[in-house]
Amino acid sequence: MDKLRITGGRKLQGQVRISGAKNSALPAMAATLLTPEEVLLTNIPLVADIRTMRRLLGELGVKAEFEDGHAVRATAEKITSNEAPYDLVKTMRASVLALGPLLARSGKARVSLPGGCAIGARPINLHLKGLEKLGATIRTEYGYVEAEAERLTGARIVFDKITVTGTENMMMAAVLAKGTTVLENAALEPEVTDLAELLTKMGAKISGAGSPTITIEGVSSLHGATHAIIPDRIEAGTFLVAGAITDGDLEITACNPEHLTVVIDKLEDAGVSIEKGKDRLRVKPGSNLQASDVITKEYPGFATDMQAQYMALMTQANGISLITENIFENRFMHASELLRMGAHIRIDGARAIVGGKTRLTGATVIASDLRASASLVLAGLVADGVTIVDRIYHLDRGYEKIEEKLQSAGADIERVK
Ligand code: EPU
Repeated sequence: MDKLRITGGRKLQGQVRISGAKNSALPAMAATLLTPEEVLLTNIPLVADIRTMRRLLGELGVKAEFEDGHAVRATAEKITSNEAPYDLVKTMRASVLALGPLLARSGKARVSLPGGCAIGARPINLHLKGLEKLGATIRTEYGYVEAEAERLTGARIVFDKITVTGTENMMMAAVLAKGTTVLENAALEPEVTDLAELLTKMGAKISGAGSPTITIEGVSSLHGATHAIIPDRIEAGTFLVAGAITDGDLEITACNPEHLTVVIDKLEDAGVSIEKGKDRLRVKPGSNLQASDVITKEYPGFATDMQAQYMALMTQANGISLITENIFENRFMHASELLRMGAHIRIDGARAIVGGKTRLTGATVIASDLRASASLVLAGLVADGVTIVDRIYHLDRGYEKIEEKLQSAGADIERVK
C-alpha cells in the first residue's frame, strides 16, 4: 500500500494548477447514461473515484474512454445492465448517482445500498423518497435498492435536509420525466449548477439551479453534448491552506475564486494574506496566524470538505479556535492523528476546540477518509522531522497527483510504494 513521506519545514513557493472538480465530474459522468448519443467531458480530474465511475459505467453498458489525459468520451447507446454492484458502491458511495439516470432512461435500477462510512451514517433515504414522489416503486432487500417506473412523472419534492447528490439524482431522474418537477430546499453547491449546465446542453429544461428551488420540465429524450467540468474548489482550498500553513508564497491557478468566497474570508480572518485574480489566487508570506472559529454549512457556507484542512491550520494559529461540524456526525477522525503529532485538540460532540500555536512533530499517521488525509499531509508540511501518511488510497480518490503538485512548489514529499 502506498504511503507519503513528508519532511516538514519547507515554505511552499511557485504555482499549482487546480484540476477539475471530482464532485462535479462524478455526476456529469453519471448523466451520460441519459442519452444514447456521445457526451464529451473535459477537465476531468485523474483520480481514483473517476476510474471507479468509469468502471461502473462500463458495467452498465456505457462505452467511456479517457482521451488526452483529462477528457472522457462516453456513449450509452444501449443500457445493458441496470445494476450498480456492491463491489463498486462499497469503494465509492457516489455510485448511487447512477440511480436517478438509470431509472429515467431504462425504467429500472438496482443499486447496492452504500451503508455508512468513516465520516457518518450517510443514509440515502431522501434520494429514495424523491424517486417515490416521481412515481417509482422502491424495494430494498438483500442489500440492494430496486427502483422501477415505466415513466417517471413530475412532482414537487421538498427535501427535509439539503443533500448534494440527492439534488443531483433527482435532477437527473426528472429531466426525462413526464411533466414538471419542482425541487425545493435544493442544494446550492456549484457542482449542482455545473450538472444543470451539462443537462441543459443535452437538451434538458432546467431553471433555478444554484437557488433553493429548481424547476425541471421533462423532455422525451436528450442528446449529446460537450462540457468542461468546473475547477475543484476543495483542491484549491487545500492548496490555499498549504501555502498559509508553511508561510509560503503560492499561486493557485485555474481555479474559480467565486466558489471559494467563504473559505477565503475565513482564511483572511485568520490572518492569511490572499491576492485575488479572476481565475487565480495567491497566498502571500508573512501572515500572523490567529485563531478563528468556523462552522461548517451547506454552500455558500464553509464546506465540510474543508474542515479537516482548516483544523490543521488552526494548530498553527495563536489562540483557541472552535470548529463546529454541522454536516456529518463523525468527521473528526483526523483530530486523533493530529494529536499524535503534538496538536492540542479536544472534541466535544460536534465541536473541536483547537489550541495553538503548537509545535508539531513528525509521526506515522493513518488517514481515515479523503479530507482527513489532506489535513495530515498539511500538518506534515510544518511538522519537525518526518511524517509518514499511511493508507493514502483515500487521498488518491480525490486529489490528482497531490505529491507532484506539492513537490513542484518545493515541498519535501515523496510517494513510498
Ligand atoms: N443525508 C440524509 N439523507 C439522504 C442524504 C443525505 O440524511 O438521503 C444527510 C447526510 O447524512 C449528511 C447531510 O445530509 O448529514 C448532507 O449530505 P449530502 O447528501 O449533501 O452529501 P453527499 O451528497 O453524500 C456530497 C459530496 C461530499 C460532501 C457532501 C457535503 C459528492 C460525490 N460528495 O456528498 O464530498 O462532503 O456532499 O458537501 O458530491 C468529499 O469529496 O470528500 C466528500 C465527502
